[in-house]
Amino acid sequence: MVLLDESCMKALPENKNKPDWLEEEAKNLVAKLGKYHLLTYHHSLMVAKLSTALAEYIGMPRDEVTLLRYSALVHDVGKLGIPLSILDKPGSLTPEEIDVVREHSYLGSDIVALRPGLESLRPIVLFHHERWDGSGYPAGLSGTKIPFLARVIALADAFEAITAGRVYKPKATKGWAIKELERCAGSQFDPSLVEDFIRLLTISKKAEQIYERWDEC
Ligand SMILES: [Fe+2]
Repeated sequence: MVLLDESCMKALPENKNKPDWLEEEAKNLVAKLGKYHLLTYHHSLMVAKLSTALAEYIGMPRDEVTLLRYSALVHDVGKLGIPLSILDKPGSLTPEEIDVVREHSYLGSDIVALRPGLESLRPIVLFHHERWDGSGYPAGLSGTKIPFLARVIALADAFEAITAGRVYKPKATKGWAIKELERCAGSQFDPSLVEDFIRLLTISKKAEQIYERWDEC
């Protein structure tokens, strides 16, 4: 079993604007996560790829794209603090276990806040499970009060989780995942970002390239 998939890591776009050590900090954190929980590690790489592709597609400035990529890489690093017995539980979680899992947002934001240079990722990591209608966690933020980069990650996060499957849920097709994103536009997700994301995944020139990269990992 390959614990740290370097080919996937190298497939990420090169960072041109920030010092290498910032990139190294983010990669070191996600590498630690890989040693702890392989599925979350792969999930993080794929969310970084998808988020970056969406950010580039909608024309975000290069600095913002870089910040987004680091944030996506480490968005679930708080799962280092969640017991494997919960992360890998095959059945439904109890309400108490759900509360424990939800702690990963706080834990992750604390972890990045302690890393020099990564402090700016904190709000994005903290709020990546907020929902457009205010029913998410940890703060119940809604609409544009949710940091924009956290909204991008939320979309990529859901798409990856649906198409990769989980111990408690079989994987679904990309087509089904797209329908699910459409269904949840305006409730779970920023509706205008859903439109952009679906256009990226279906009719853009990049769609095929994204799916090729997807299948590599
Ligand atoms: Fe998460």
